[in-house]
Amino acid sequence: MRVLGIETSCDETAVAIVEASAGSDPVGRILANVIYSQLTEHRRFGGVVPEIAARAHLERIDGLLADALTEAKLELGELDGIAATGGPGLIGGVMVGVMTAKALAFAHDKPFLAVNHLEGHALSVRLTEDVAFPYLLLLVSGGHCQLLTVRGPGDFTRLGTTIDDAVGECFDKTAKLLGLGFPGGPAIERLARDGDPRRFALPRPMWRKPGCDFSFSGLKTAVRQAVEKLDPQDSRAIADLCASFQRTVGDVLADRCANALALAPSSTLVVAGGVAANLYLRGRLETVAAAHGARLVAPPVSLCTDNGAMIAWAGLEHLRLGHRDGLDFKPRPRWPLDAVAS
Ligand code: KG4
Ligand code: ZN
Repeated sequence: MRVLGIETSCDETAVAIVEASAGSDPVGRILANVIYSQLTEHRRFGGVVPEIAARAHLERIDGLLADALTEAKLELGELDGIAATGGPGLIGGVMVGVMTAKALAFAHDKPFLAVNHLEGHALSVRLTEDVAFPYLLLLVSGGHCQLLTVRGPGDFTRLGTTIDDAVGECFDKTAKLLGLGFPGGPAIERLARDGDPRRFALPRPMWRKPGCDFSFSGLKTAVRQAVEKLDPQDSRAIADLCASFQRTVGDVLADRCANALALAPSSTLVVAGGVAANLYLRGRLETVAAAHGARLVAPPVSLCTDNGAMIAWAGLEHLRLGHRDGLDFKPRPRWPLDAVAS
């Protein structure tokens, strides 16, 4: 079974083709995976500008589709389904991906699948790793921070979520305050390697509280206050602040995952989403998983941040269950994974 996936919900225009057996096994093969990152378009604004993003998706999508088909040495007629991110995300971009996928599906008489971007992250681990359902998932990205039980495609129970900011957003804000550019996560991880994680004592919101919810706004404020007192030329202090910030995030994520593993025991803890690319945080989660008799599994670093392969894979997982979406599907700027969540 081969599915093409389109991702256009934020600032990456991405197209991929994945292949797997028609059964329910995890682990597929990536036949093509191409991406155009709009970083240069947005950099001077210090964040993603929705109108610029939508136009850039529109300009790039056809070329990337052709590149993906060439890389996979396939024609559109040889595919079994066409998937696109149907939300949540910036609506202009999502519309570009959804309209493109619908047009291809209609023209070639293929099933169309509207994929929840969060589900793309949530299932991505099964594209490369032998992970069976159910598993506990820590989903940490630029816009989300949640703990969920994943029972199967479309079958999620949310254990906790952030009550204010997402963890990736907190990395990005910290990096912006320190003048490290956008996106902030990779820059902070790099500088933190040479920093002293004990130099700055930062607050750990929700730490050691019951439940699995998160909060990052207090940490963001504390970082801003620390930066205000800092000499911007003092590279040692900047590295120390990055290391202290990263350690604090690690403490909070480990504490919340420990609660989740106690509340909903699982032999597998999966971490996914852009922040899962952080190797220090993976190490912290590995320790907490092991303490609860579980193993930590994460997608390869290159598949943690937004990409087309995760959308193609989630589409494929649904397609082999017999699911498909109508060509009247409306893009969803908000789309919680858990049906009962707000
Ligand atoms: O999943 P993603 O690509 O986009 C969303 O769906 O939001 O996540 C992007 C987020 C950004 O906030 C970025 O700073 C963060 O992931 N990120 C990282 C790292 N790489 C990307 N955060 C911490 N450490 C990293 N190495
Ligand atoms: Zn994402």
